[in-house]
Amino acid sequence: MNRIYHDQAASLREEFINVPTKIITVLSGKGGVGKSIFSVNIATDLASKGKKVLLFDSDAGFANASILLGNSLKNTLSDYMKGNISFRDCVQETNYGVKIISTGFDFTDWQIFQNNFNDSILNEFLILLRDIDYFIIDVGAGYSEKLNNFYINSDTIFLVTVPEPTAIVNGYTLLKALSLLKVEGEIEIILNMVKNKNEVNSVKSVLSNTTRRFLNREIKNFYEISYDENVHLSVKRQIPLVSLKSSSRFSKDIMSITTNILNLKVEHPISFTMRLKQIFSKSSTN
Ligand SMILES: Nc1ncnc2c1ncn2[C@@H]1O[C@H](COP(=O)(O)OP(=O)(O)OP(=O)(O)O)[C@@H](O)[C@H]1O
Ligand SMILES: [Mg+2]
Repeated sequence: MNRIYHDQAASLREEFINVPTKIITVLSGKGGVGKSIFSVNIATDLASKGKKVLLFDSDAGFANASILLGNSLKNTLSDYMKGNISFRDCVQETNYGVKIISTGFDFTDWQIFQNNFNDSILNEFLILLRDIDYFIIDVGAGYSEKLNNFYINSDTIFLVTVPEPTAIVNGYTLLKALSLLKVEGEIEIILNMVKNKNEVNSVKSVLSNTTRRFLNREIKNFYEISYDENVHLSVKRQIPLVSLKSSSRFSKDIMSITTNILNLKVEHPISFTMRLKQIFSKSSTN
């Protein structure tokens, strides 16, 4: 690396010590509980409120976020890593003001990406994220040690589950896995596809007790999102429901969550640059 580039890179990283960009990670114990639907709709609602949002879709090859936002899968981070396109080309614009990066990765590719992550890729991310208010990461279902740095370095973790025994048990297991890590950000629970208010309280008590017992903390917020048939229509039309039908029950639930996201006051103790580096590089979590 030449001297001038080195100095520029160093000053860029310095500039990011106090960047206000919030890192939000969306995860679940079980698949198919609505992470992508949730991520896309909070991203769209935040963008409609004037915020700059980058959605990072780490779904292996399916690029759900792109499709849900009316795009097709084209350039992925994987294409960039293969040298086929520039970094800027893998940032997709959408009709809803939300930008997306689709990784096109599976877990093995993640390892290759992390092994090859260097200061020049870090700088590409920093330049992009300099203008972003919310960096929303859909990490997919289940726990993976490779993703520990996503969990540790987020300002907020949204754990999505549904009121079904398997999903609740998997959510519980995921919370226990998180308890072994030093998670500094807030952990919030999203109980999605709620049909009946009666089913909410038991889930709430299981997950709140787990968090208290294993993580020695309280869940800051426990949100409910209604089951809403309109979601299926919005998936078919490839238009986020908050944009297609803002008066729907689902949209109202999402909007009350984004209002809270806008008030997020977490001050993560680690600098933004360092967190980004830890998320993407193979650095150890210990
Ligand atoms: N609130 C809701 N009301 C009705 N249907 C919903 C709701 N949320 C999600 N769904 C349905 O569940 C399906 C799965 O949602 P989604 O793809 O977001 O799950 P996911 O957790 O991202 O799945 P994966 O683990 O495979 O990535 C959606 O296609 C939609 O049909
Ligand atoms: Mg998904």
